Amino acid sequence: MLPGSSANNGIKSDMTEQKGGPLGLICAIPEEIAHFGAHFRAESTRDIAGFTFQQGSMDGRQVVLVEAGIGKVNAAVVSTLLLQVFGARALLFSGVAGGVDPALAIGDVVVATRLVQHDYGALADGELKVYQPGVPPLPGFDEAHGYELDKGLEAKARAALSGLTLPALSAEATGGEARMPGIHFGTVLTGDQFLNCETSRDRLFRTFAAQAVEMEGASVAQVATRWGVPYLVVRSLSDLAGADSHMDFPAFCQAAAAGAAELIRRLAAVL
Ligand code: ADE
Repeated sequence: MLPGSSANNGIKSDMTEQKGGPLGLICAIPEEIAHFGAHFRAESTRDIAGFTFQQGSMDGRQVVLVEAGIGKVNAAVVSTLLLQVFGARALLFSGVAGGVDPALAIGDVVVATRLVQHDYGALADGELKVYQPGVPPLPGFDEAHGYELDKGLEAKARAALSGLTLPALSAEATGGEARMPGIHFGTVLTGDQFLNCETSRDRLFRTFAAQAVEMEGASVAQVATRWGVPYLVVRSLSDLAGADSHMDFPAFCQAAAAGAAELIRRLAAVL
């Protein structure tokens, strides 16, 4: 590996500043952040670089809530600001995703135990070989990739969610039959692409055995890892990332996002 090419470029994490800080809570779009409105009491707001950071409390905990907009760069910018400017002690992401695992359905919720930036790597012979962000995507360099959820934190998250049942999704919300959303732990993929393609969805499932695909989570993990702070990413499925996802996403996004928000409120207790 080249000097300076490790996952965190050799920067030492200093958690002392973060220890007593607020939780940083990120959503990408209005349909996701809307579900925190009734539970979040804003005390002040601060605008930086076009992002509005709302400082306040949620269920008795200090939280800074922000709508990042779509994509990895937006998520990385707000993550950095939450950590450096607001001293967040942990990062949480709540939002929707496309389903990749055929066993999952719209409304199901996935807690990420592994986050992979599926669009970072080397293109050779028409195929993308994924590398860890920051690692030179060249033969001879470390091919391991993905941000693994800390096992201790995963155990706490599982305990906090055990026995939880989410409200049934109405037939209107699913576009089919009313159903109880499932809660899963698994792999979430992140890339700067909205997946509207059966072929790509199948390839991603074969390659990564992933449960869901979205556009921000693994960049939050990348930034949190550099700071040495914990993070949790929770995603509800608004669509199945295939040929219908451009229609399913707007139809189910608002209702699906409620599931992720519900879990995040419970998971805030373990950070
Ligand atoms: N977020 C919600 N649905 C998605 C999809 N199909 N692709 C990427 N991100 C998503």
